[in-house]
Amino acid sequence: MGLYSKYVLPRLLDFACRNKDVSDLRRQVLPAARGIVVEVGIGSALNLPYYSFDVTHLYGIDSSAELLQMAQKKTAAAPFPVTLLNQTAEKFSLEDHSADTVVMTWVLCSIADSRVALNEARRVLKRDGRLIFLEHGLSPDPKVQSMQNRLTPMWKRLAGGCCLNKKIDGLISQGGFAIKDLQNCHIPGPKAMTYVYRGYAQPE
Ligand SMILES: C[S@@+](CC[C@H](N)C(=O)[O-])C[C@H]1O[C@@H](n2cnc3c(N)ncnc32)[C@H](O)[C@@H]1O
Repeated sequence: MGLYSKYVLPRLLDFACRNKDVSDLRRQVLPAARGIVVEVGIGSALNLPYYSFDVTHLYGIDSSAELLQMAQKKTAAAPFPVTLLNQTAEKFSLEDHSADTVVMTWVLCSIADSRVALNEARRVLKRDGRLIFLEHGLSPDPKVQSMQNRLTPMWKRLAGGCCLNKKIDGLISQGGFAIKDLQNCHIPGPKAMTYVYRGYAQPE
């Protein structure tokens, strides 16, 4: 791992994800998480303050040991137990059908094979469990799309594999989920990076 990925990127990701508009969206979607929650790509645990008392245990998965170190500092204040696992979204060591909720926020953009990761999310979810998602992705505006397609190769290298042009609802459906609620919006900021998909889905 290069110095950029180890020392610079984790701090950049943490900083970028602290944006006020992003925090407002977190505040709107995360209270729906309940029971045993698996957060895939937990990063520096910026979602932690927005979970409700309906959460009984949070498992946070992330492939970055550096971001998990930042997350670890926040877990003592959580009102429920938090277990952090330095594992990947594609394969993590939780039991089949053991989770009530899987949370993915700003992470599908940077998972290389999102279908494998969504299969893994489906494996751990109970049959009536929910995948809560809050992601950025492909805009419906052709001009923005073409900008997203042009910027993605360079952006991917700078931002830990983040692609600007993923059609998030399509990926979730292809991953074996039925989308029950989907809301899209643009938040303030560069158009290529700010088209949001939020909602929840259940295993098919
Ligand atoms: C943009 S950050 C978002 C962090 C957090 N979800 C949030 O909302 O603040 C993306 C996170 O996904 C993690 N990540 C990317 N690909 C991953 C993978 N294949 N497995 C596990 N974590 C991954 C990164 O390490 C990083 O913490």
